[in-house]
Parts: sequence; C-alpha cells; structure tokens
Amino acid sequence: MKAKNNPYRIGVIGGDGIGPEVTAEALKVLDAVGFDYTPVVFDLGGTRYLRDGEILPAADLAAIRECDAVLLGAVGTPEVAPGIIERGLLLRLRFELDLYANVRPFLAPASVYNDGVDMVVVRENTEGTYAGEGGFLRYDTEYEVATQGSVNTRHGVERCIRHAFALATARERNHVTLVHKTNVLTFAGDLWQRAFDAVAADYPATGTAYNHIDAACIYFVQDPSRYDVIVTDNLFGDIITDLGGAISGGVGRAASANLNPDRTGPSLFEPVHGSAPDIAGTGTADPRAAIISAAMMLEFLGENAAAARVQDTVKTADDVTGSTSEIGDAIAERVPA
Ligand code: IPM
Ligand code: MN
Repeated sequence: MKAKNNPYRIGVIGGDGIGPEVTAEALKVLDAVGFDYTPVVFDLGGTRYLRDGEILPAADLAAIRECDAVLLGAVGTPEVAPGIIERGLLLRLRFELDLYANVRPFLAPASVYNDGVDMVVVRENTEGTYAGEGGFLRYDTEYEVATQGSVNTRHGVERCIRHAFALATARERNHVTLVHKTNVLTFAGDLWQRAFDAVAADYPATGTAYNHIDAACIYFVQDPSRYDVIVTDNLFGDIITDLGGAISGGVGRAASANLNPDRTGPSLFEPVHGSAPDIAGTGTADPRAAIISAAMMLEFLGENAAAARVQDTVKTADDVTGSTSEIGDAIAERVPA
C-alpha cells in the first residue's frame, strides 16, 4: 500500500471538450467542503497531442503515480482519429495504475424513473476486449482480416468479482448479479461464472443472480429496481452504464470511480460522459457527474464525512439549474464546510 501525502496530492486531468469545464466545478466543491489538498495539474488530452504529439509522457505518468488520487474530466477530440487518445491516455492509465474495478453507481427516485434506481455496476476495467489483443491481416485489401480478442484471466476476473461482493456487503440489499453472455461466449462466460460461484461461496449472506446482457438491457428499462450490485466484463459494462445513466437522470449525473482496491497507486475518478465536443464552450454541461465523482474520491480516500456532505448536497440540489458554473457555484455554496 502506498503511503499518503499530507496534504493530499490530487492529480487533475481536465482533458478535452467539456472535461476541463466540469472538472473546475468539482474542484470548487472540494474547496468548499474544506478538503485539504494540493492540485497537481496535468496538461493531457487531445489538445496537448495536437500541439506536441505527446499523449502520456513518462514524466507525467511518474508524477501521476505520486498522487493520492486523480480527477479526470473527459478525453477525446474529433480532430484526432478515434482510439488514439482513448487508448493512449485513458485506457493506458487504467492499465498502468491497475484500476481494475470501474465502479459506477446509479441513483434515481421513482419520480425520475420507473420504481426508482439504486444500483452499482462494477465493470472489469483492465481486460476483455479492451486489452487490445488482435490485429489486421492483409490490411485494406479485399481479403482483409481484423480480429479483436477478449482477454479474461482468472486472476483479473476474480479480483473484480471480489470487489463487487465486498461492496454489496456494505449495502442494505446485499445482492450481486453477474451479467454476461454465457450462452454464446462459452469460454469467457464459463470462466466468469466459475469465478463468480467461487467468490459467492465466500459470501454466504450475499444473494446472487445471473442475467444475460441482452436480458439485462430489458430489465434496465422495464424494472431496474431489481438490481443492487451488478458485476460484468469491460465491454458489457461500458454499454450498460450508458443505459444506467440514461435511466437515472441522464449521463450528466453518472459518476465513476476507476479503483485500484489494493491501493498500490492512485485511483482515478471521472464522470461517465465523454468530452461532448458539440457542447464544449457553451456552458451547458451538467457538472454533477464530475462533482459526484469527486465525492467518490473523498470516500475512497477515507474522508467519509466530507464525501457524505457533497453527496447529500447534490441529492438535494435537483432544483438547481443554470450554466455549468452556476450549478457548480450553487452546490459549492450549499455544501457545509
Ligand atoms: C467510458 C468511456 C471509455 C470506455 C472510452 C472513452 C474509451 O466510454 O469510460 O465508459 O469505453 O471505457
Ligand atoms: Mn462508455
């Protein structure tokens, strides 16, 4: 376990598009809640790449490792081909820092959706189709072949499932659903199911269920209140967490924590939404997802009281409307220091 800095060193990667705009509001709220930290600002993302061709220089990665946690806005810009910044910066950070549990909570009352939503998706964050296994043969010819493998290690899958069960035990319903596609992905699915059953045996008080990913999409729309904690692979988790955001007030409220639960390095906190270049600079981005992500950071750092003050303030700030900075100002003003 890495020793903590005093005061905390918080890496700040605003990134691209609306990323820096929403991150500024999250920092405002961290200041207002009385969190004692030194921001360490990193100029990383598409804009930097277009300027000097650098995506994640070794010196920046080394400095990020010295932080206690990282707040990230969003990365990716239409001027750079898809995948370059995403893979070179965001996914690389997830892999380098071993952020194997991507924790995405969704909370909405019945007045917002159906019978209400109160669930957490734990998405495996270092393997699956995101691992980058594959390639081209006979590139751009009539007989081209492209493969994209899914990497599933017993170690990687099991540690993620373990995190989901640990998280469930701290929640009232104490229930974990495995979401996969075991009827078609018979190799990966079989490994996931066996790892899930093995971990479940260590948590006899925790209820369990299994849903295929396609069925889970229907349940998300028709009956999301059935879910407490969901654990799933990287790509399924990517897709259903956008759906989770859509049913719980929009992706402007969907926060996430990319965790290294073993604490061998900093964890990274970011909104689920992307850089949204279409609305960048208009001041219309909702900073709530970034602010809740900052609250998740406080909680992971053990600053539980401050985390609860931010969470509670956001929960009771549904009436707040306005521009990105007006919403940030209003939440910062209401949060007790
Ligand atoms: C997310 C994003 C990323 C992902 C992209 C930007 C690489 O969609 O965090 O959900 O696919 O993981
Ligand atoms: Mn996504």
